[in-house]
Amino acid sequence: MSNNREQWGTRLGFILAASGSAVGIGNIWKFPYIAGENGGAAFTIVYLACIMIVGLSILVAEFVIGRKTLLSPVGAFEKIAPGTNWKYVGFLGVASAFVILSFYGVVGGWILKYITVSIVGGFDSFASDTSASGALFNEFITSAYSPLFYQLIFMGLCVFVIIRGVKGGIEKWSKIMMPLIVVLLGVLAIRGMTLDGGMKGVSFLFNPRFGDLSASAIVLALGHSFFTVSLGMGTMITYGSYLKKDQNLLSSALWVIFLDTAIAMLAGVAIFTTVFALGADPASGPGLIFVILPSVFPEIAGGTIWSSIFFFLLFMAALTSAISILEVVTAYFIDQKGWSRKKSTLIFGSVITIVGCFCSLSLGGGINIIGIFGEDFFLGGTFFDVMDNLSGKYMLPIGGMLTALFVINKMGMKDYIKELSVGSDNQNINPSIIKGFLIVAAVVVAFIIFNEFYALLSGKALVG
Ligand code: TRP
Repeated sequence: MSNNREQWGTRLGFILAASGSAVGIGNIWKFPYIAGENGGAAFTIVYLACIMIVGLSILVAEFVIGRKTLLSPVGAFEKIAPGTNWKYVGFLGVASAFVILSFYGVVGGWILKYITVSIVGGFDSFASDTSASGALFNEFITSAYSPLFYQLIFMGLCVFVIIRGVKGGIEKWSKIMMPLIVVLLGVLAIRGMTLDGGMKGVSFLFNPRFGDLSASAIVLALGHSFFTVSLGMGTMITYGSYLKKDQNLLSSALWVIFLDTAIAMLAGVAIFTTVFALGADPASGPGLIFVILPSVFPEIAGGTIWSSIFFFLLFMAALTSAISILEVVTAYFIDQKGWSRKKSTLIFGSVITIVGCFCSLSLGGGINIIGIFGEDFFLGGTFFDVMDNLSGKYMLPIGGMLTALFVINKMGMKDYIKELSVGSDNQNINPSIIKGFLIVAAVVVAFIIFNEFYALLSGKALVG
């Protein structure tokens, strides 16, 4: 089966596809905010340390497992540890992909909607009026049909790319979209810095304020360093399985991490220079993107163009991540069930879209299937929140921790280093150092999981 496995065309194509997965909504709406709020450069330093230890170790582990086995997660774990329960780590990955893409597709739809509103000058009447922009956002996401329409288009685009395969679909589109994201963000960042008072935003992000760096900020940095590289569900195992043997896995991983971090920082500059120049509130998450920004862009010259560019690049970032999630599910049915790519993509693209409709409808459209468990169901009141929390707080960290443990306990350092050395000039990789990194990564992620469960059971996190 692996003889005619699809492969990436070029090294650059692979790096752009993997960083396309990593660079997503999280880079643009989460990193800038948590960095700004938690000590600016002081947070960034901690974050860089976390990403170089936890993010890098698990990213390399996923690449190694994928390229060694030339299989997507379930098959990969089964091949290295036949007849054991480790394959369930692969199943957990496929399940996480299902869960994440169901609500990610909904948010992708929101972004598409905002492109259309922005292009026709629809933000103009929101100038400095967050109650008006907030009303539009609330009304839109809580309505029944309109979000479903945009979600359908977004998911249709995912299917369109994935059905064309690894080289002709994922790689081709990543090579177009990733450079565009960087260029457009660069343009927005320069525009922002040239605004009167824009540099206040740069200082919010990059001025080190160690006083604001709390223990909970460190836990946030750890959690984000893991999420932002798309670890824990076998995305990077799947992408690694399309590699040729001549690739240097460590340097590819470093490139992905570099691009992910650089784009997050660039997004921070683009957003906060604009927000601070206009004296708006640097709020977090969806509110920052869908409420604050639509109210500040119309105040700057050429606002319609800038906001359209922003939502367009956010759309591309979301799409390159979403396709990597769908690819995990598609690859499972191709590798393990022998389905064609077309059948697998069409069927599961549709199933996930339908589940996603229920996420969207739970926000106010009238159907909250989690409602049968009562108002305060333990992971959040709406089906959308449950899917979000379930994946982000539990499934992905557990998957990532188990991946690190798998390498340490089951695969063994000898086989791991052997695969890691293939394609690398350095044939003297020190196993103890690599093992040390993996152990630290596993312990740290275990702590994050423990902290979440503790919060779930006792109502208050140990840290954070
Ligand atoms: N890394 C993505 C972001 O920053 C989110 C994400 C987490 C993800 N896990 C993933 C994307 C798995 C694709 C696959 O937004």
